[in-house]
Amino acid sequence: MTQRPDKHDPLSVGPLTRAVHAGNDVDDSSGALRTPIVMANSYALPDDPSGINWSGTDIALYTRNGGVNQLGLQAKLAALEFGEDAVVLASGVAALHAVFFTFLSTGDHVVVADVTYEATWRLFGELLPNKYGIQVTMVDATDLDAVRAAVRPSTKLVHIEAIANPTTKVTDVAAIAAIAHEFGALLSIDNTFSPPFIFRPIEHGADLVVHSLTKYINGHGDAMGGAVIGREELIRTIKQDAMVDVGGVISPFNAWLIMRGSVTLPLRLRQHVASALAIAEYLEADPRVAYVAYPGLESHPQHALAARQFGGVFGGMMAFAVDGDSDTQNRFVANLRVITSAVSLGHDESLIVHVGTNGPRVASYPLEFRTWGHLRLSVGLENTADLIADLSAALDETFG
Ligand SMILES: Cc1ncc(COP(=O)(O)O)c(C=O)c1O
Repeated sequence: MTQRPDKHDPLSVGPLTRAVHAGNDVDDSSGALRTPIVMANSYALPDDPSGINWSGTDIALYTRNGGVNQLGLQAKLAALEFGEDAVVLASGVAALHAVFFTFLSTGDHVVVADVTYEATWRLFGELLPNKYGIQVTMVDATDLDAVRAAVRPSTKLVHIEAIANPTTKVTDVAAIAAIAHEFGALLSIDNTFSPPFIFRPIEHGADLVVHSLTKYINGHGDAMGGAVIGREELIRTIKQDAMVDVGGVISPFNAWLIMRGSVTLPLRLRQHVASALAIAEYLEADPRVAYVAYPGLESHPQHALAARQFGGVFGGMMAFAVDGDSDTQNRFVANLRVITSAVSLGHDESLIVHVGTNGPRVASYPLEFRTWGHLRLSVGLENTADLIADLSAALDETFG
């Protein structure tokens, strides 16, 4: 007998149903079908509050310990990532910091991918080793032998981006999970570039999944947030140590906005992914384009792994450069009329940013990135034909 779908049981329903219903229910006090925004800081205490754990997160107490809008979003994200629980925080970086702060102590060792988001790179390249004595080995996470050689008995954490920002390097999460667990280390995966409906790292052995909710999960470019998803006991520790006692809590309004944005995540991703593949193929075929890095292209070094791991959908992010110096890249970007020059990604509108070739972080990038620099393109929800026409016209104007 097939299981009867029940919107209150996320595992009994398909992904679109899950994205609509998980974490939301009829509001008891008003009968509203959507959880209202609850802007209160404090909640009514029981008659005898003297036994309360003030760092606890299990009763309604204070919004830094958990509020109605946080709780709904946490339930939704846990359901989308197939995790037991989730914690939501003020930004993706607050979520990353929460993992590192909670699970690392002085003298502990971490293995980190050599290509990561800027703040992650700085945390592990400078701040955590210099201020707190965390030992760090940065490693090419596509080289499993190098990862195995880097792990030591004192390794507490392996941290990697499933698709790396900005080079789009793809990591074999199941293989890395096996290595980390052999040494008793936790594996955390930043899944911002490949959100659920593309990839669920927990099913591949990850212990913790981190998201910048600011990006695809909110999707509308109007609210910042971050999340960590994983086993209940790990998330409880992050809530108590990093949310309640460090305090990077999300505002109820932002949690509500992200909850609303996340309803359409699977539908939006279909468009992001389809457009990105068409644009990557278009750019790769143009001789005025120096290179394109997109996991959906056969020329991508981890294309076969990406096809297997992500089930044939490759996300909406790519990097490329036009054939020329730094001024040429800037002229090309200035000639765009639909795609906007701005940081961030996963928004409804397409965003491009010209990242130069300088700085220590760039040393581990592929040669073509270091030669031409790179334009990081986040493909938005506009018509694919408009985006390709915009790129084509900008190439014509740049190269005369
Ligand atoms: C992969 C990745 N992780 C984390 C972050 C940080 O997220 P936030 O800007 O929400 O702090 C970003 C931001 O670009 C990112 O690209």
